[in-house]
Amino acid sequence: MIKLHDKYFKPFISEEEIADVVTRMAAEVANDLGDEIPVFVGVLNGSFMLVSDFVKKYPKPCEVTFIKLASYEGVKSTEDIQRLIGLTQDLSGRTVVILEDIIDTGQTLHEVHRIFKNENVKQLLIATLFHKPEAYKKDFKLHYVGIEIPDKFIVGYGLDYDGLGRDLPAVYQIKTTQHMTNFVLFGPPGAGKGTQANFLKEKYNLLHISTGDVFRFNIKNETALGLLAKSFMDKGELVPDQVTIDMLEAEVEKNAGAKGFIFDGFPRTNTQAKALDQLMQSKDSQINAMIALEVEDEVLVERLLERGKSSGRADDADESIIRNRIKEYYTKTAILKDYYSAQDKYFGVDGFGDIEVITKRLCNTIDKL
Ligand code: IMP
Ligand code: MG
Repeated sequence: MIKLHDKYFKPFISEEEIADVVTRMAAEVANDLGDEIPVFVGVLNGSFMLVSDFVKKYPKPCEVTFIKLASYEGVKSTEDIQRLIGLTQDLSGRTVVILEDIIDTGQTLHEVHRIFKNENVKQLLIATLFHKPEAYKKDFKLHYVGIEIPDKFIVGYGLDYDGLGRDLPAVYQIKTTQHMTNFVLFGPPGAGKGTQANFLKEKYNLLHISTGDVFRFNIKNETALGLLAKSFMDKGELVPDQVTIDMLEAEVEKNAGAKGFIFDGFPRTNTQAKALDQLMQSKDSQINAMIALEVEDEVLVERLLERGKSSGRADDADESIIRNRIKEYYTKTAILKDYYSAQDKYFGVDGFGDIEVITKRLCNTIDKL
């Protein structure tokens, strides 16, 4: 995902796919024109990348020139088109092929036709890499269309959003769902994960999804997924990842308006981390970070023994059990630390100190996501 100015864009059409389409279009045009030497006219600025790639793929001699028009402001086409650079050569009797990066409403194309009306060209052919049929309001024939796309704003491969994005070799589509901040929260027992998650969900309007709670809820309410999960548990088997993911998906869907999610207790394996990535991708979003509270073992032991005195939790009363749980945590999360580090998404946060100080440290990390 990329951010240009205030908007987010997701990968839409890859460099390879564009190259294939451009090659195909060039071959089609060459095939139709036979031995005639065409004049390709690129419409600047957007078409500069297409024209460059197109003429390189054009298998026969050709001429190239440009005109420059301007019609777009922000992400909306405007009626008011300015002719910034007109034609500078005589094109009478020639076959002219307009090369457009994109034809949207057709307003620019209208202007192109007006420019060529008095040029006495032999024929005027229109080739566009992208076309938004739903937005098109004119009747001009489009002789060559590379890819038809939905009526959503795109950037890259010459196309810009307020000046940015033209340089990108692939094409990205605007994200219509709001931007979410999603992270996986980790911490050894006693790190204060629950306490901090409570502050963070309030501050950022996030939904805290604790896999344990989701499981208990589904089983208690005998949902289809809960019963399915229980059938495995009753046999003493591990609940398959897909069942857990389906439960999480239901949770994410139930709260589609949330500004993001704090995942707690999931993922625990590489496979689960990948499944979670896929789930978020299918929601036009992503996991932004793994945030791990880092606290020294001695401090954890001390905190848990202290908690054991009042909570009565048996597993908080015995030092060797506590140490074992901490050790287990590190063994299990090491794989995930590697998984998210590889994507530059691992953030360790010092979990030693006053609760508010730790919250501040966490916020510093989250604010940068
Ligand atoms: P039209 O005049 O509405 O057909 O729009 C044509 C011009 O608007 C193109 O040459 C682009 O400069 C711009 N444009 C249209 N759609 C997009 C888009 O999705 N992203 C970026 N620019 C666009
Ligand atoms: Mg253009």
